[in-house]
Amino acid sequence: MKFTTAKAPPLKRGLMATAADDRFFRNIVTNMRNGVLAIDREGRVVMINEEACRILEIAPDAEDSGRHFSELLRHHHDVVRILAGAFEMSTLPNRAEMRLKPSGKVIGYTLSLVRDERLRVHGAALFFKDLTLVEQAEERERLRDRLAALGEMAATIAHEVKNPLASIEVMAGLVRRQVAERDDLRGMLSDIISEAKMANAIVVEVLEFVRPIRLQMDRTSLLKVVEDAIPLAERKIARGETRIAVAIPEGLPAIHGDHHQLCQVVTNLLINALEALGGQGAVRISARMKAAEMEEQPPEVELVIEDDGPGIPAEITDRVFNPFFTTKPQGSGLGLAIVRKIVDGHDGRIDVTTGAGRGTAFKVTLPVGLPGQLGF
Ligand SMILES: Nc1ncnc2c1ncn2[C@@H]1O[C@H](COP(=O)(O)OP(=O)(O)OP(=O)(O)O)[C@@H](O)[C@H]1O
Ligand SMILES: [Mg+2]
Repeated sequence: MKFTTAKAPPLKRGLMATAADDRFFRNIVTNMRNGVLAIDREGRVVMINEEACRILEIAPDAEDSGRHFSELLRHHHDVVRILAGAFEMSTLPNRAEMRLKPSGKVIGYTLSLVRDERLRVHGAALFFKDLTLVEQAEERERLRDRLAALGEMAATIAHEVKNPLASIEVMAGLVRRQVAERDDLRGMLSDIISEAKMANAIVVEVLEFVRPIRLQMDRTSLLKVVEDAIPLAERKIARGETRIAVAIPEGLPAIHGDHHQLCQVVTNLLINALEALGGQGAVRISARMKAAEMEEQPPEVELVIEDDGPGIPAEITDRVFNPFFTTKPQGSGLGLAIVRKIVDGHDGRIDVTTGAGRGTAFKVTLPVGLPGQLGF
């Protein structure tokens, strides 16, 4: 029979910290590009680094260390819940994800226990990373897939519908010729023909919309895009007394994009603004470099088109980008869907800030093409 004696866990060797090492370790954590938040067994914050403050949107404060984490994170109930369970959970979350309620940011996080060399637990540390940009890229990817599937379906339907529509139109025309003296029948047949033409126009428009986008990428200036778009919009809708102000700094870098399609973006947004304003009020078109939130983020420009019109009621804001969603009697509801498709094609983003009675601002964020990609 064999006997085993219970032994104390072996000491972890190799990390014999000196004061200088201590500072070094602290600097590693402070400068980490992950958010780090560590607490002791009593729940007091031992350390929170800059990236954590940025992601959680809390102002860094020397007083933070020593405070109870639930006080520091009073706006982040979900994070509090995770940290509160750190010392009870049998398996700690590893590479889990969650959405932060206050900002809508998505973070990926790992929770670890802080043990000493004798494996006694002294605290817990939460490591996390802002995944919002990754999430947005995935969302765009999903939208692209959805549009591709929709495109295939629409192309099939269009193919099936186009021929019978053409036959209806032709045959109605033949019958109309045969009933030259029957005005009542001729009127009805003319209606059939114009309805068939309308149905055909819708099929053509859908096909146009779902066709994969082809961009002619070149070096282009946003100021020029806006200057070209204004007359295009004014040709579609009377501007009346509406003032249009353009505030685009001269020094804004040229971007890598399709000039005509970007003109279409600004034109569609401007038409919507002018339609909402009904000949009154003001539109402001502005652009600026976007301040990088993260070091590795490529440079981006932000183009904002805002009006002081009636705004969009909260209950429909989510649907305005959907194809065929319109509140206008003559609208096709494709204006913003096309805008989104073009912005997506440029790997950009678009979002809207609005509310009934608050005016409307559409913000388009576009990557500035890297000089290397343009061959200069
Ligand atoms: N600046 C704005 N102010 C108020 N509502 C807006 C504004 N922009 C868009 N909307 C709302 O969003 C809906 C969808 O806009 P979208 O441009 O896609 O279609 P549309 O303008 O109705 O038709 P189309 O552009 O095809 O002629 C509009 O019907 C309107 O209700
Ligand atoms: Mg429109």
